[in-house]
Order: sequence, then C-alpha cells, then structure tokens
Amino acid sequence: MNAGNFARFDPARVPTPCYVIDRARIVRNCRVLRRIADEAGVKALLALKAFSTFAVADVIGEYLDGTAASGLYEAILGGSRFSGEVHTFAPGLKQEDLAEMLQLSDHLILNSLTQYRRFAPMLAASENTALGLRLNPLHREIENPLYDPAGPWSRLGVDGTRLSPDDLAPFSGIHVHALCDHGFAPFARFLEAVETRFAHLFPAIDWINLGGGVLFTDDGFPVDDAIALLKDFRARTGLQIYLEPGTAVALHAGAVVAEVVDVGVTGAPVVITDASATCHMPDVLEAPFTPECIGAEILPRDLEPRNVNDPNIARVGGPTCLAGDTIGTYRFESMPAIGDRLVFLDLAYYTMVKNTTFNGTPLPAVAVWDSDTDSLEIVKEFSYADFENRLG
Ligand SMILES: Cc1ncc(COP(=O)(O)O)c(C=O)c1O
Repeated sequence: MNAGNFARFDPARVPTPCYVIDRARIVRNCRVLRRIADEAGVKALLALKAFSTFAVADVIGEYLDGTAASGLYEAILGGSRFSGEVHTFAPGLKQEDLAEMLQLSDHLILNSLTQYRRFAPMLAASENTALGLRLNPLHREIENPLYDPAGPWSRLGVDGTRLSPDDLAPFSGIHVHALCDHGFAPFARFLEAVETRFAHLFPAIDWINLGGGVLFTDDGFPVDDAIALLKDFRARTGLQIYLEPGTAVALHAGAVVAEVVDVGVTGAPVVITDASATCHMPDVLEAPFTPECIGAEILPRDLEPRNVNDPNIARVGGPTCLAGDTIGTYRFESMPAIGDRLVFLDLAYYTMVKNTTFNGTPLPAVAVWDSDTDSLEIVKEFSYADFENRLG
C-alpha cells in the first residue's frame, strides 16, 4: 500500500469524519492536465460531477479552462464559485431551467433531437451559447453496466451513425463519453472508434467534447503519448477538442479520516467507524471497491468469517443500520482501538458530491491540507441543521 502524501498527514488534526483534500496534489494533477491541453492544443474542463470542492477553485481556475456541469445547479456553481468556461450537458432539460442554463453556459449539450425540437425557438435565439449534441459512441470499455454509457438501453446520447451532417445543422459540436478510470490504450481505442463512426459528421461541426474517464494524472500514465494522440486527432479532424476529466483532477488528492467508535465481535470481528460507506463514499458499495487504509492490508470483500483466524483481521463499516455498510475487510498491522483514527485513501472524487445523511448520519467536515507546506484549513463543518434542511 502506498499512502502517498497522506503518509505524512496527522489525522488527529481534523474532526471526524472528515474529507481531507491535498491541495498540492490537486496542483500537480492540474499541471499535468494543463501540459496536455497546451501541448496538444485542446481545452480541459473540470467535471464538477466528480469533484466540486470550490475551496480549491483558485488552483483549478489557474490551470484549467473551466468546468463541465451536469445540470442547472452545477452550472450555477461553475459560474459562481469556479472560473472559466461553463459547459453544460443535461440528459433531461426542463423548460423552467433553460433560460438560466443558457445564460450561464458557454456550451449547452443536448441529449436527444427531441429535446432540441422541443426547445428549438429558445435555443436558436440564444446567441452566446454554442449548442452541442451528445452522441452515443457505441464503443464499450466498461464492464460494469452501472457506469457504461454505451451499453444497450443507454439513455445517453443519440446514435450518430444514423445522422447526416444536415441533422447537425443546429449544433456546432458533438459530445462523446465512454470511459471510466481508464488508461492510455482504451483512450486510444475510444478515439479511433469515435473517428471511425462519426468522421462523416466532422465537416458539419467545429468542436468535439471527448468526455472524461481517463486517468491522465495517474503515476506512470504516458502523458506524451496522450498528447501525440490528441494532436494527431486535432490535425486530422480540424476540430477544437475539449476534455472534461473529473477523477483525474482529484486523483490521489483526498482521504476520509474516520474515528473508531467500536471494536468488537458481533457475528464476526468488526470495527465500527463514524464514517459510513453508504453515506460518505457510496461508490465503495456501488462499484464495489475497497479503499486503501493506512496501516492495513485489503482483504477480499467476500472473505468468509469462518476462515478468519488472525486477530488483526476485521470488517470495517459505518454507523448506519444498513447491513452492508462495509468500507472493507482489512488485516491491520495492529488492531485499532476505540478512539483511533483511520485514514482511507483516494476518496476525493465521487464522495462529497454523492453523500447523504441516511440514518441521520452527520456529514463529514471538509478540510484542505497542503502536503507541501503542511498547512491545514477546516473549510466546512456540518451540523444537525444540514440534516433537517433536506427533509420536508
Ligand atoms: C459526460 C461525462 N463527462 C465527464 C465525466 C467525468 O469522468 P471521470 O470523473 O471518470 O473523469 C463523466 C463521468 O461519468 C461523464 O459522464
């Protein structure tokens, strides 16, 4: 297990539970993305759906070209708390949101031609917003159907192979997205598939948004190869390219710090923490995956308790009544005790933006730590009022 910068973080410095964001790693990630953007001649936007922590918006605005929003609220956030361009894609537009969305968005990407026809008069009248159409790339790299936008019954994007350049007359660009946590080779296959399927449409448009899902900032990612690939694509097609990474912006840049509230044997050895998988890191259950925990080795999630005869093995879970509120099963270097802090790694993205207060579980505080300077700021703490405010 490589704790990265968090090996140097003292978890006693924050209230628990807490999302701790490493500003220095965000800077490093954004610098990689800026280099790709500059050297390949493309633009890079932060996908707010993955990571919306505006406490580090200054850094993101310094390096990236803007934000990608998934609807009106993220567009407002992008326009008010972040800087640069705002590109909005909303699978289901609502009449009452449209005027504000158009006013806020440099690009508005529609999910279907029916949506375009329904709102055509308003869309056509909006001079400052470039319109795009989302196409289903019909290229599959993702095995888990929950995350695969190109699977059968996909709700995301039109089958562009059936469109003619004339169909794209109202639009200046297209949007395609098919990847999730992928490296270079799937990215290259994806670009090739997009070009093969949609080259007949390129003369009718000015730009293409390639979505997210590529781990450009991961250790060992061949950044120069990605630059070359994008540069070639741009030279061949003449299109302005947009990337909208989410995960890559916040990769290895955040941890969840939890306090142990019980260590015991119920049906099996368990550690209960004040951080919850279902409330605070729901992808742990949806994907599923087990986050790394400092000082512990990850064991299989389906490990049978009867096969456990090591006193340092326990299943770690949250304080809710959900039977499966399991963060993971771990072998600890030494079994944690009540009051100890646990640090779960790489949980900056798709966590804060997806959390809930199920069971009345308190929301984690948000802290920004700088692993270069060791400065720490608790930027937000939540209370009972946040729980009550969301209920009718
Ligand atoms: C349309 C679109 N763009 C960008 C992203 C960001 O992807 P990632 O966070 O994997 O980079 C997603 C993620 O689902 C997406 O659906």
